[in-house]
Amino acid sequence: MGKVIAIDGPAGAGKSTISRLLARKLGYRYLDTGAMYRAITYLALEQGIDIHDTEEIVQLSRNIDLNITPPDENNVSHVFINGRDVTDRLRTKEVDLNVSTVAKNRAVRELMTEMQRNIARSGNIILDGRDIGTRVLPDADFKFFITASLEERARRRWKELKDKGLEVSLAEIEKEIAERDLEDSTREIAPLVKAEDAILIDTSHLSIPEVLDKLLSYIKDEEND
Ligand code: DC
Repeated sequence: MGKVIAIDGPAGAGKSTISRLLARKLGYRYLDTGAMYRAITYLALEQGIDIHDTEEIVQLSRNIDLNITPPDENNVSHVFINGRDVTDRLRTKEVDLNVSTVAKNRAVRELMTEMQRNIARSGNIILDGRDIGTRVLPDADFKFFITASLEERARRRWKELKDKGLEVSLAEIEKEIAERDLEDSTREIAPLVKAEDAILIDTSHLSIPEVLDKLLSYIKDEEND
């Protein structure tokens, strides 16, 4: 049976970058569960559905045909909604500002959790998110909680946007991330919290290759036991 790796942590900690690289290194599949909540949020905004209308959002989630491809040669996973590639539309400010509300919806979470468990069933996969090690896959073979200081996470997100040609204020991003952290970690259902048995990795002062090496060393250690 293939192994399952759960990677959780707050916004901007580098989970998806690390997960993609780790998946490539191990020859595993990768599922970005945040992209699932983002896809529903994007579609709701596009269709003019009130993000707070629990019933409408659940209806939308039930009918969505969501497909996330394995990372391509540029390490990008493409997200298709009903056959349409929406990858570039999921990390916008508008989605950032509304996704936590969608992620608080109990029925949506149940649907997404079930999909995530089904996808993970055959193993050899990395899932990243907020509740993978605590709720979705509490029996995962490896659990990591990846974090970094708020300042560093804001700086990384600011740089990512700047590289895309978007001029945004660092202070504003820091405020938005802090708000999203608060919403994600204080919500009633499946809040962002480190699983007791997850390995904590603070990436504030680590480069991407250093984080990757750290994760790989834990995985190899365990496999050699
Ligand atoms: O990882 P991300 O920033 O793309 O996640 C987007 C939002 O989705 C985030 O605010 C929290 C939510 N989320 C969640 O509640 N549970 C997950 N497993 C993944 C993401």
